[in-house]
Amino acid sequence: MEPVRRKSDLPQVPAAIDFESLRADFPIFAASRQPLHYLDSAASAQKPACVVESISQCYNHGYGPVHRGLYPLAESASEDYEASRRTLANFINAAGAEQIVFTRSATEAINLVAQGWAARYLQPGDEIWVSQMEHHANFLPWQRVCTSHGSRLRIIPLDSEGRLDLEQAEGLFGQKSRLIAITQVSNVLGTINPIGEIVATAKQQNIPVLVDAAQSVGHMPLDVQDLDCDFLVASAHKMCGPTGIGFLYGKTDRLAATEPLLLGGGMVDEVNIDNSSWAEMPARFEAGSPNLAGAIGFAAAADYLRGIGLQAIEQRVKELARLAYEKLSSVDGIRLYGPGPGLDSSGILSFNIDGIHPHDLAQIAAEHGVAIRAGHHCCQPLMQRLGVSSTARASFNLYNNEQDIAALVAAIQDAKRILGYR
Ligand code: ALA
Repeated sequence: MEPVRRKSDLPQVPAAIDFESLRADFPIFAASRQPLHYLDSAASAQKPACVVESISQCYNHGYGPVHRGLYPLAESASEDYEASRRTLANFINAAGAEQIVFTRSATEAINLVAQGWAARYLQPGDEIWVSQMEHHANFLPWQRVCTSHGSRLRIIPLDSEGRLDLEQAEGLFGQKSRLIAITQVSNVLGTINPIGEIVATAKQQNIPVLVDAAQSVGHMPLDVQDLDCDFLVASAHKMCGPTGIGFLYGKTDRLAATEPLLLGGGMVDEVNIDNSSWAEMPARFEAGSPNLAGAIGFAAAADYLRGIGLQAIEQRVKELARLAYEKLSSVDGIRLYGPGPGLDSSGILSFNIDGIHPHDLAQIAAEHGVAIRAGHHCCQPLMQRLGVSSTARASFNLYNNEQDIAALVAAIQDAKRILGYR
């Protein structure tokens, strides 16, 4: 495989970006009959036209089976698929494209590591660490593998502001710890966790680290060689790409120690009646016909975001979140969760309004054209820590603006008027 670019080759961040004009890249805003204030990007991001066009281009002009044919269309489809892999490897600065395994989602990628890697090595009494802010996707696979192996699922606690309480946890990682699986950005609190620090601590004790980057890849600059994590997972749909595709990044030795979960066509070296052997990485993890259009759309999303600049996107989203936090803080009866604006906080805000159920709030917000999420956000252990069953959540992306924030505040005031809270 071709080596990918080194960090020093990465493009520089442009000085100033007109984010307001970038909104026009997303056809959904012009297509919507009423103003659309889309504040649910942590659930799934909107798609720029270039991503949709890349998929349509694939199906209309470049579609063929991947790694299964010798005629030109099949060969160019195979090349497009591998070029997409290289684009994504570049995007996170992986040392080689073969370290990127396409999966259906970040969730599937975590399950692959849990069942294909952890399950092979875990012993009774061993420990896997997660934090109390994990999404169920980075909780349940570890809970299951720990239960089936007589191992312990250990929890990094949170402080009262929704940050990891690492002082307590660092003393606790130890001889029996086999993995730390941690999110980079909380999908509820917006907390940005100090992954570099966690990896450095873990390395001192040879503990591998898996990073759930579903809420961070495509939202901020990310370099897996700098982070030095062992595994990292991401989803295309949260970074303006298509649904149904994600990836697992793994260091070469970690992937080599992982067994494929799905067996079938395309992942074999040789199949005999009595025994079989697997193809090289990453093909061995990609049984079945690959999602060509998904991979192409995923790469188009990465190119689009990179063209804007990840640092600029991060700054823009943080600025919107800061402004939203400020406006929401002045709403009577609001309770905001998480660390609030700052270096370690991204574009996700969770809150509750006294006396109003988040579902009712989300419904009234919808009538204002404001799309927010309400519920436990697939984070029930975190809800238990917060002492609530659900929250309302507003999450920002590069296409949001100040009008979206004003509409959210107006919707909250209307909900208070309708539901009787003053
Ligand atoms: N993980 C997604 C969310 O936070 C589904 O909404």
